[in-house]
Amino acid sequence: MKARLEELRNAALETIAATETLQALEEARVCFLGRKGRVTGILRGLANVPPGERKALGQAANETKQAIAEAIDTRKATLESAAEERRADGEALDLSLPGRRPPRGHVHPVNSVTDELLDIFQALGFKVATGPDVETEYYNFDSLNTPKDHPARDSHDTFFVEPGIVLRTQTSPVQMRVMEATDPPVAVVVPGRTYRVDNDASHSPMFHQLEGLLVDEKVTFADLKGTLMHFVHAFFGQDAQVRFRPHFFPFTEPSAEMDISCTVCGGQGCRVCKHSGWLEVLGCGMVHPNVLAAAHYDTEKYTGFAFGMGIDRLTMLKHAIPSIGLLFENDLRFLEQF
Ligand code: DAH
Repeated sequence: MKARLEELRNAALETIAATETLQALEEARVCFLGRKGRVTGILRGLANVPPGERKALGQAANETKQAIAEAIDTRKATLESAAEERRADGEALDLSLPGRRPPRGHVHPVNSVTDELLDIFQALGFKVATGPDVETEYYNFDSLNTPKDHPARDSHDTFFVEPGIVLRTQTSPVQMRVMEATDPPVAVVVPGRTYRVDNDASHSPMFHQLEGLLVDEKVTFADLKGTLMHFVHAFFGQDAQVRFRPHFFPFTEPSAEMDISCTVCGGQGCRVCKHSGWLEVLGCGMVHPNVLAAAHYDTEKYTGFAFGMGIDRLTMLKHAIPSIGLLFENDLRFLEQF
């Protein structure tokens, strides 16, 4: 019996040492130590050994079992670390691979057009001013010669925040804020968000305007025309034609709308210009004396001009964008084209 144990132990250690995989090792474990394994068989056989020899034999059998179990554990650790090393080798960094580039953002088309507009007017000496999006009715309407019962208010479908407080429907209220804070002469442009209850292919409830205001002694309509023609040529190119049509705004007198020759057909007539050859781009006029007076400017001494244009509309014309909504959906497939 002792000799059999010895033999079994040697056979087991040899088999274990020869295993190359964890699976082979597990098979060896089952073969020797499993429920039907060879060591287990010997331990069971102890029942038939005469009582005198049983103790010594039992001890020897247990030692054999333990030695085999230890050999299995050691081999297991070896095989596992070898497997780990092989996996790490497979994962080795290939330093010659190009790096993964983080996606690069860029300036939104509305912002880049805004920057371009500001550059044009700043080069003429205009300063940049801003004002609040949430505005009082006083600044948005009353101070701009548009009292409560004025019919011109109807054309602005206004978002009311609370009685007396609105989301500004135009950047014009900043004219008044600037004049209240500054003695003449003033020359400012005001970019910003504006809001109206309106939503279709050419209207968005939130849109952008650029306001302009210049007040000084002896400012005339000719100054207004010269300034705006310079702007059109700088922004749309020297070939762009300009025309002024009489119009009405409460805060200017006289008032005009300015058109440019259609940027798509060059004035021949097409769908974009509704076959007129002209595109409306802004409203303008000579600052109404009531507005100067509301800012406590001396209306005998000072005159001024003002204008307001839709930045989104200019962006759409510049890039032939068919719907204003595209500018605000933030669909990367659209934005990446600029
Ligand atoms: N605020 C006008 C609008 O939203 C645009 C405008 C017209 C602004 C004439 C002006 C101006 O400053 O003089 O329709």
